[in-house]
Amino acid sequence: MIIYSNFLKPNNSRSIDYFENYYLSFDNNGIINYFGNKFNEIQNFENDKLLDLTNHIILPALIDLHTHIPQYPAIGIGKGTLLDWLEQQIFPLEKKFDDIEYAYNLSLKVFEESIKFGTATIVAYSNLGYESTNSSFEAAKDMNIKAYIGNALMDFNLAKNLNKTTDYNIEISNKLIKKWHSESGKLKYILTPRYALVCSMKLMKWAAKISKENNIKIQTHLAENKDELKEVNKLYKNISNYTEVYNQAGILHDNTLLAHGIYLNDDEVKIIQSKGANIVHCPSSNRYLQSGILPLINMKNIVPIGLGTDVGGGVSLSMINEMKEAIETSKTFNITENISNNYLSAEEAIWIATKGNSKILKLDNEIGDFGTGKSADFICINKSRLNLNDNLSSNDIASKIIYQLSNQYVDSTYINGKKVY
Ligand code: GUN
Ligand code: FE
Repeated sequence: MIIYSNFLKPNNSRSIDYFENYYLSFDNNGIINYFGNKFNEIQNFENDKLLDLTNHIILPALIDLHTHIPQYPAIGIGKGTLLDWLEQQIFPLEKKFDDIEYAYNLSLKVFEESIKFGTATIVAYSNLGYESTNSSFEAAKDMNIKAYIGNALMDFNLAKNLNKTTDYNIEISNKLIKKWHSESGKLKYILTPRYALVCSMKLMKWAAKISKENNIKIQTHLAENKDELKEVNKLYKNISNYTEVYNQAGILHDNTLLAHGIYLNDDEVKIIQSKGANIVHCPSSNRYLQSGILPLINMKNIVPIGLGTDVGGGVSLSMINEMKEAIETSKTFNITENISNNYLSAEEAIWIATKGNSKILKLDNEIGDFGTGKSADFICINKSRLNLNDNLSSNDIASKIIYQLSNQYVDSTYINGKKVY
């Protein structure tokens, strides 16, 4: 198939370029074989269908690096800050997710909504169960979304009806890895020690070992909230800081996604950098739960920082909304610190949600832009929705998309060359 349209393509300098009246061609397996403006250069053109979308703008599909499937019904519900919110809103909802039919249907809903918002690849937490996590994988398969899914590893410090043993966590994780993990497929397992307050050192060490031995990614939460920090320091009195707890568990490496990372000192940022681990910024959640403000502009040149929705602390599955939140949060940081620092630009926000996130997943040879040999994962936006003037820069167009469409569906989403919405 060949698409004739206008494209926003992330480049190698954390920004994007705008190409008007270009061709994107891909084969029956959804692999891109041409991106350019010369129709006669398109190879293997066997009576391929040509689709004129010149009234649209096309972007690489978005990548959501952090969200919680069972928490979708909690969006906008509940008050207070992280620890109380988890106890009062979240853990009961995650218990409900043990019902297999409920888990399957809710997972379908989450993936469908994500696709409508333009996400083609999602990294998600399930709850702590086997059957429920299995249902989430089934739903991802049925929705044709690319997904990393993990059962939340939790073995201590929990209410009775949630408590599971370390051995139980290990046993079901092994079963899920065996059933679902594939290094090259659309569905991948991700090891998910939830965070230091509910996952024992023994279980974290096990997850780290399996991650390294099998090249499986690992995700957790880090330094999101000040009360959380205090509790971690109480629990691990002999360990100098929160990041060092994870370092001693062995879970800091280049396959690691650390959500939030708001309250890190210079030493902690340095450890994360030296281990090649990644931070995932979740700005809408950081505001909803009053967790704090990530010093994004200062940190992004030191460690890789991706972007995720973190539903249900986050208020939407829309990565376009999350980009807006990331930009606005970087301005709020400048206001509260009384500095006139740069804030995150619109084009860099789009770069992060596409190419940047693909690099963090080490999938930048497969997704994230329109390079030859990559997957035709892209989203289409009708230009009429953007009220564009003439002579706009690529950053202006990016900004229009982010501010006019935050929390709105895109017009269509393609995954592996197939229209899924
Ligand atoms: N830390 C541990 N679990 C969670 C969770 O579910 N959401 C958020 N925002 N932070 C967490
Ligand atoms: Fe989270």
